[in-house]
Amino acid sequence: SRGLGDVYKRQVAKEIGKKSSTSQVAYIEEGAEKQMDSTIRFLVSAKSAYVAGQVINVRKGEEVQYPDWHKPLAGKVALVTGASRGIGESIARTLSRDGATVLGLDIPPAEADLNKVMAEIGGELLLADISSAEAPAQIAAKLKEMGGADIIVHNAGITRDAPFHKMTPQQWNDVISTNLSGVFNMTHPVWPGMRARKFGRIITISSINGQKGQFAQANYAAAKAGDIGFTKALAQEGARAGITVNVVAPGYINTEMMSTIPEKVMNEVILPQIPVGRLGEASEIARTVVFLASDDAGFITGSTISANGGQYMS
Ligand code: CAA
Repeated sequence: SRGLGDVYKRQVAKEIGKKSSTSQVAYIEEGAEKQMDSTIRFLVSAKSAYVAGQVINVRKGEEVQYPDWHKPLAGKVALVTGASRGIGESIARTLSRDGATVLGLDIPPAEADLNKVMAEIGGELLLADISSAEAPAQIAAKLKEMGGADIIVHNAGITRDAPFHKMTPQQWNDVISTNLSGVFNMTHPVWPGMRARKFGRIITISSINGQKGQFAQANYAAAKAGDIGFTKALAQEGARAGITVNVVAPGYINTEMMSTIPEKVMNEVILPQIPVGRLGEASEIARTVVFLASDDAGFITGSTISANGGQYMS
């Protein structure tokens, strides 16, 4: 019975309270089952750690339209560059998990992988080279079909590592034109639509090596540091238009990009510098990106969020 239930629950709350556990009772009115979701989520979360021995009534009340807790990005279109594998693939999958419609972009040689990922998440795809002069027009045409982009994640990037005395102009230009000019090329066609709709989330994947520099990466560090400067400038222009512009700066992440690093350098130089003692996972970067894309991050703009296992603290 209701009365006995209350007494029992209060007794349980008293007995287990000191052990950092809580106990409550929720009465759900018949017909209000759909409305109990938010209450249960609150009670099982850390947010209710100081709430104990309470009786909560969930009544039917008026029909309220709740957002889908599992799909906070429903209705949003997200463009992800370099989406066929690694960090970009994980970002595309995580955005889709949260309800966004994903447009995955990659270079033509990655077509098979990109096809597979987009088929699995019901996304659209575009084959283009973000460093090329044609890329802005290609992206504009595709996004016109999809009604514009609400979220853009600049993830595509390359390395052409060499000590500076051996670095060729080609290695310099390839990295700058993909990792820095590519960000300009992809943002330019998306920007007017975001300004008009007064909403946008622009997230660029920079790197720890753009923050601290890196042996044999004068080209990569320059481009990735450039991405941070680009972000800080654009954040100021987008602020009044509801557009946030941020950077995620990953450390060393367990992807194919790591395969270019000699094993000896990885084990003897890089790993000992990472306080958590391991490489990061692509999904750990993806979850940081998806947070920045969410409504919860609306007041964060012009920021660089490091996700590097403590290797560099700025
Ligand atoms: N830190 C310190 N020393 C390094 C180093 C590093 N990361 N990488 C190489 N070295 C050292 C080597 O140990 C070697 O030292 P010794 O001469 O004492 O043996 C020396 O530099 C190599 O010099 P060489 O002139 O012979 O170099 P090379 O022309 O053969 O080029 C290399 C080799 C391209 C530098 C290769 O060692 C390499 O790829 N190193 C890794 C560089 C690196 O860390 N890149 C980051 C890639 S991950 C990434 O970019 C993703 C991200 O955002 C985090």
